[in-house]
Amino acid sequence: MNNFDTEIIKSKKILRSKSKDYKKNFEKISDFIKSEVNEIKKFQEKNLSIIPEINFNDLSNDNEKNINQIKKRGCLIVRNVFKKDQIIKWNQDLENYIESNHYYQDQIKKSHLDNYFSELKSGKPQIFGLYWSKTQTEIRQSNELDKVKKFINNIWNYKFDNYQVFDPNKELIYADRVRRRQPGDSTLGLSPHCDAGSIERWIEKNYQKIYEKIFADEFEKYDPFNAMYRDKTDLIKSPAVSNTFRTFQGWTALTEQGPNDGTLQLIPIAKGMAYVLTRALLDDVPEHELCDSKSGRALAVNQKYHSSLLEGLVSIPKMNPGDTIWWHPDVIHAVEDVHTGNNYSNVVYVGSMPYCEKNLSYAKKQAEKFLKGESPSDFAPEDYEINYKNRTLVNDLSDLGKKQMALKDWL
Ligand SMILES: [Fe+2]
Repeated sequence: MNNFDTEIIKSKKILRSKSKDYKKNFEKISDFIKSEVNEIKKFQEKNLSIIPEINFNDLSNDNEKNINQIKKRGCLIVRNVFKKDQIIKWNQDLENYIESNHYYQDQIKKSHLDNYFSELKSGKPQIFGLYWSKTQTEIRQSNELDKVKKFINNIWNYKFDNYQVFDPNKELIYADRVRRRQPGDSTLGLSPHCDAGSIERWIEKNYQKIYEKIFADEFEKYDPFNAMYRDKTDLIKSPAVSNTFRTFQGWTALTEQGPNDGTLQLIPIAKGMAYVLTRALLDDVPEHELCDSKSGRALAVNQKYHSSLLEGLVSIPKMNPGDTIWWHPDVIHAVEDVHTGNNYSNVVYVGSMPYCEKNLSYAKKQAEKFLKGESPSDFAPEDYEINYKNRTLVNDLSDLGKKQMALKDWL
């Protein structure tokens, strides 16, 4: 038995005891998922995308119909956030940054440091351990993304009688990596997974509170956008495990990419996590296991245990340079195994990490790394960029950028 086996066994007992009948509870959730999957399939048959879309110029938190759709699907596309010319320049700058600093040669020496995704069957994706290029900085500190992030943060319920979980209008930066996928690549996909905790979603006490209604036969009342306790979860330390609270993960497209271009896939069901959680309590899963999820790895979603849910996995529709996509931290996602398109499919990962105590403490640690050009503390310590030419320095940050990096106080 490893360290977590006894905790898993104990937690399963506690979680089962919250329900009058945990098997029936799972069946109810499973029926809900099946009806959601049917809806997804109907859209697919008509060749329509089920992922809500909004144009950058139309962002408004007052549009209740849009907001309800986003809350149901747990994801959205915001189109035309950046002008195409600007994005083409940023993409070129990033390529120059990678090539002039000889990233490829370095990567071969350091690739063993990142073991986060090694359990996923498709192996390592074509993701670059770079955080401080000018392209990434300019996208992160742009007024455009500031506006988008305020919009998506405000979709959450963050304010309660005695406690405000985060400030939706003050954003901190979660420096993340870059994906640049070559046409023809067939080795670098990512199997379906979730970040922000694997076995913690069952054994950690704040996650247990977040998911209380799911386990306690009140699935209908569970609101994935209720932020209470989301800022308190405590994750098992591991390279590449995010120990922050992101309202949405996301990326900005640097190139055109559509289905079959090695792009993102999502299960657009905001409550999909309920299936994964309650499935693990059934009797066919060994008592010390959680449907093959492992500590310090991404949460695994697999055919063996989650086939009904996986039927809802869809490729996102065609994205144009300057479009952005966002998904809730519980939304299961994957990257297509094969890139059969003709062009690079490139993205800059930029999630939304609003101001709260947990995120501020991470942003401060991250800022120290930034000043030295090292990899942020959530990631494998590859530290490629310490001596890179043209890396972002503190003087390259705008006033907003400094606040976002916790190098200047928000007022
Ligand atoms: Fe992920």
